[in-house]
Amino acid sequence: MDIAGKSVLITGASRGIGAATARIFAEAGARLVLMARSRDALDDLARDLGAVAHAGNVAEFADMAGAVELAQDAYGGLDVLIGNAGVITPMGPLATSDPSEWARAININLTGVYNGMRAAIPVMQAAGRGTILTVSSGAAHRPVDGWSAYCASKAGAAMLTASADLEGRDHGLRVMGLSPGTVATDMQRDVKDSGISPVSRLDWSEHIPADWPARALLWMCGPQADAHLGTEISLRDPAMRQAIGLGNPRD
Ligand SMILES: NC(=O)c1ccc[n+]([C@@H]2O[C@H](COP(=O)([O-])OP(=O)(O)OC[C@H]3O[C@@H](n4cnc5c(N)ncnc54)[C@H](OP(=O)(O)O)[C@@H]3O)[C@@H](O)[C@H]2O)c1
Repeated sequence: MDIAGKSVLITGASRGIGAATARIFAEAGARLVLMARSRDALDDLARDLGAVAHAGNVAEFADMAGAVELAQDAYGGLDVLIGNAGVITPMGPLATSDPSEWARAININLTGVYNGMRAAIPVMQAAGRGTILTVSSGAAHRPVDGWSAYCASKAGAAMLTASADLEGRDHGLRVMGLSPGTVATDMQRDVKDSGISPVSRLDWSEHIPADWPARALLWMCGPQADAHLGTEISLRDPAMRQAIGLGNPRD
């Protein structure tokens, strides 16, 4: 797919991977709806990129549905949904975790991805096409000490992504996940500051820049990624980085 002129909704677009993705997609000519809770950051970026912004919480279905409606009103439809919004907190032992904080992470990282799919899929199926990309994590597939909420929510989102592919492929949907590895964003800053988990002890130079997953997500919108439908692409895989045209982490 040539992304120029296509309607793309990005959640978690106020900073980090989501904001980098907005910039890369805007450069490629996409028409963007940006969503996150921080209205000022979102409005500033939308102004820079000629995008429209929808301030809201992915954990609230009405907010997600409003973002999809905005794409329809502004651009006449929705071609691509990127479910990127996520939180790393709470971090710490499961045994002493705060139940409401734990549930909040599930509501954002898992139910938030569901809400996006639930709002977008009927619109895409009616059009007979659409691409849904979920930003996943290696933590979806292995436990990380002190990250039970994050790991469990990302594992759920990975299964949801596979489920959406299973149910949607025959309706023209392209659905897959991206596991970026560790990325130099505020989320990794929070991980480092926590001192919790082996990830907090990684040297900052080991993290890839946010425009790498952004460029991977753009690549995933094209037919070259079709072999990966229903699965996750990992940027830790050197062959995948080469296919996408990304260098090595320390380049
Ligand atoms: N950084 C990494 O090393 C890494 C590795 C693997 C996977 N990931 C995944 O990549 C995605 C982006 O992470 P990042 O590193 O860019 O983190 P980040 O810099 O902390 O940005 C997170 C984004 O999600 C938004 N967000 C959080 N909760 C939200 C909610 N309830 N509703 C709407 N938006 C919400 C934030 O905006 P507001 O606060 O304005 O709402 C922000 O735009 C996440 O899904 C994360 O799990 C990151």
